Amino acid sequence: MTVAPTLPGAVTVRVPAKVNLELRVGPRRSDGFHTLATVYQAVSLHDEVSVARWDEWQVVPAGTYADRIPTDGDNLAVRAARLVAERWAVDESLSIRIDKDIPVAGGMAGGSADAAAALVACEQLWGLGLDRDELAELAATLGSDVPFILSGGNAMGSGRGEQLAPVLARGTFHWVFAISDTGLSTPEVYAECDRLRERDDADVPDPRVSPELMAALRSGDPAALGAALHNDLEPAAFSLRPQLRELRDAGVEFGALGGVVSGSGPTVAFLTESHEASLDLSVSLAASDLCRDLRRAKGPVHGAHVVTSPRGD
Ligand code: C5P
Repeated sequence: MTVAPTLPGAVTVRVPAKVNLELRVGPRRSDGFHTLATVYQAVSLHDEVSVARWDEWQVVPAGTYADRIPTDGDNLAVRAARLVAERWAVDESLSIRIDKDIPVAGGMAGGSADAAAALVACEQLWGLGLDRDELAELAATLGSDVPFILSGGNAMGSGRGEQLAPVLARGTFHWVFAISDTGLSTPEVYAECDRLRERDDADVPDPRVSPELMAALRSGDPAALGAALHNDLEPAAFSLRPQLRELRDAGVEFGALGGVVSGSGPTVAFLTESHEASLDLSVSLAASDLCRDLRRAKGPVHGAHVVTSPRGD
């Protein structure tokens, strides 16, 4: 783990990862994106992004996955900060410290989380007075799931995933995430999904979230939610990484209430009955040698929020 000090005057924002409880992928649109119907849940794996005025743009990587953070203009936190600077004509450069505990390229919105965090942090540092709707609009230009990471909790996503609607939900859910050493590229997984559908001459209906999943969330019943987990990108992720199917099946055999590839993968998310059950499942999966890195988390949790600010609020 890399430890890097936070600069004086920095604004730090804490931001969660997400899992898609259900991800229905509709037809490919003319802009290349796919129409989605999805239900997101924010989970308690967090990045922290700190921004401070600096005499040039720089990224300071830190945390569990520090060595996997891009430090160039490809970094979504940098793109988000530059977007805000350009839009509000702020002629300043920033040092952006990213403390990364969300798996990279794992289907848990790690890059999107940093973009959401940078938006909130810059808004605060530069005192722009934007409301959540204005931030969400900017967020959507940076990535399909960035608006959800701003809001957190549970939400339904439509359009390309950026249009959010609240869902009725109760209870706290306990997850085990099986993390792979190497990520999967989101565009490649969507392209594989298209290829498999074309090969099978599959009918692609307009996507809809299932009533079973909504009922499971309303009742807070983990067994019902486990049975309703679904991801249309799963066949594509399995096709690109066949060992993920074995991992998913093993977790369910070891007692998970349900197992599903998270987003575009390769992280596999397992829902368990309780905190204790998540510990037991972690032990079984670790002993199976099917994956190297396991993380436990609970959901839902809050979206991006300021944790320290020179303004003291
Ligand atoms: O919006 P985001 O930058 O996260 O999307 C990354 C890539 O994932 C897109 O370039 C596209 O290939 C694919 N994608 C898609 N349909 C969506 C969301 C993402 O095809 N609704």
